[in-house]
Amino acid sequence: MSPLRDVVVAGLAGSSKYRDLAPETLARTADWALERHPRPADALKAAKRKLHQAFGAYLDPGALAAVGRILDGLGPDPDREALEATATRILALHRSAAERLPILKEFYEAIFEAAGRPASILDVAAGLNAFALPFMGLPGETRYTSVEVDRGLAAATERFLQLTGRPGEAIWADALIRIPETDAELALVLKTLPCLEQQEDGAALALLQRLCAIPQIAVSYPVRSLGGREKGMTATYRAQIADLAARVGRPQREIMVEHELVVLLGPAEM
Ligand SMILES: C[S@@+](CC[C@H](N)C(=O)[O-])C[C@H]1O[C@@H](n2cnc3c(N)ncnc32)[C@H](O)[C@@H]1O
Repeated sequence: MSPLRDVVVAGLAGSSKYRDLAPETLARTADWALERHPRPADALKAAKRKLHQAFGAYLDPGALAAVGRILDGLGPDPDREALEATATRILALHRSAAERLPILKEFYEAIFEAAGRPASILDVAAGLNAFALPFMGLPGETRYTSVEVDRGLAAATERFLQLTGRPGEAIWADALIRIPETDAELALVLKTLPCLEQQEDGAALALLQRLCAIPQIAVSYPVRSLGGREKGMTATYRAQIADLAARVGRPQREIMVEHELVVLLGPAEM
């Protein structure tokens, strides 16, 4: 590491807001900031602004502690009802998952009806999505692997997988840098591409290229902003995913639009 990069990374790692992001994310953002601001103090400010734009909006401070407390309250061998009630309370704590709560079962039904039931899933930038597993209608042996940049979210996911005996793992990593090798038949890339593109130009395409070994990818986009406004987002994202699908040579099929724009990308055409 360069000494300037060390200074900026140390500044980010010392901030309670960003210290739980994957170390490679801090290094990547420090490099980005130093390219624009040679003085470390200015670069640190710019890097914090960038991270705030990308990560500030989804979780309230204290949300992860609340997840831990809710899981502590779940007894051993919970029945289905207890598990669903707990998972619902936890999903409500991540803005992106909370928006989907009213349609959770239909949401995954629509995806699996179009994609078939996968034996193994890779969930990219998963947030708290693992807590939707009790609503997905998948067999207990379906493998679930997630990648998430926030250490607390990854740890909560890992704890839930172990608690429910689900095969799989939660990987704490930057999806722009490291995608684990899996035997996944379906990747979930839910409401994530705009957030990745904000971090790095071209990141959405680069991610889809990295997922080339996975036969099907369910990509989704929000249809309203976190503030609730529509702002023509559906048309914009429809055009974006059509362009990305063409670039990676995958056929695309829109499977939902009212609550969330969901597009299934099929195996790449030779
Ligand atoms: C909009 S939320 C979507 C969460 C989830 N996919 C869903 O639909 O509920 C974006 C999530 O991606 C994570 N994230 C953002 N950038 C990432 C990156 N470079 N690598 C891995 N995870 C990332 C954030 O921490 C956040 O939990």
